[in-house]
Amino acid sequence: MKLLDVDNVTKNFKGLVAVKNFSFELEKGKLLGIIGPNGAGKTTLFNLITGFYPVDSGTITFKGEDITNLKPHEICRKGIARTFQIPKPLGAISVLDNIMIGAFNRVTSTSKARKIAEESISLVALSQYGSVKANKLPVAFQKTLAIASSLATQPKLLLLDEPFAGLSPTDTERTLITVDNIRKTGVTIILIEHLMRIIMKVADRIVVMHHGEKISEGKPEEVAGDPKVIKAYLGEKYALRK
Ligand SMILES: Nc1ncnc2c1ncn2[C@@H]1O[C@H](COP(=O)(O)OP(=O)(O)OP(=O)(O)O)[C@@H](O)[C@H]1O
Ligand SMILES: [Mg+2]
Repeated sequence: MKLLDVDNVTKNFKGLVAVKNFSFELEKGKLLGIIGPNGAGKTTLFNLITGFYPVDSGTITFKGEDITNLKPHEICRKGIARTFQIPKPLGAISVLDNIMIGAFNRVTSTSKARKIAEESISLVALSQYGSVKANKLPVAFQKTLAIASSLATQPKLLLLDEPFAGLSPTDTERTLITVDNIRKTGVTIILIEHLMRIIMKVADRIVVMHHGEKISEGKPEEVAGDPKVIKAYLGEKYALRK
């Protein structure tokens, strides 16, 4: 079943075309990777899907419903959650309380919100830090906290903006397991990632962005071998050996 349909979406910032005539579809339960150089328009695409910026033109359809230019909280209610490239938890309150804020998007009772938050924190293996103040967490764990907070909104579609960027090999492995555990719950994922090594491991399909446009799309091995991608982004050394 088609969960998300981004159709011919364009976004300009004062003459700079950040996203240009961009289209892709996403099947329920899949993990789509989005790669592309700095400034390619990846984060802007997330901001358009989640209503943080209005589109100039084009249509975004989620579960068969037109969600183009709805407000961020409305889109969240409909079942799309996202993380930001730089995590910004509320530092003065506990990790669990941060996650509960996500849950309050859907429920009003504190006990229900706590239960949802506890499920989210357990899914990302952060339970042992539940009572720690968020600003005491190392950045790598703040990224995990951001994932848990977005999960607590109970999304059908989760957008992760560079969750692996800057992580140590240990934290990378831990986050790979987290992403896998989220997938197993049936949540569909779009993941922005710079490192081909990681995206090749986790993505069912990959879309490649360059100067706001889609220059390639396909299975990881197809995209990695696409001469356009190698030229624009990867460099010859990343080309898959035949
Ligand atoms: N709010 C904004 N106002 C003006 N220009 C913006 C705004 N947001 C993004 N841009 C510009 O749009 C282009 C795409 O930016 P975007 O952040 O989407 O790229 P990205 O692919 O996420 O890059 P990175 O890999 O560095 O995170 C860039 O040229 C950026 O400077
Ligand atoms: Mg970005």
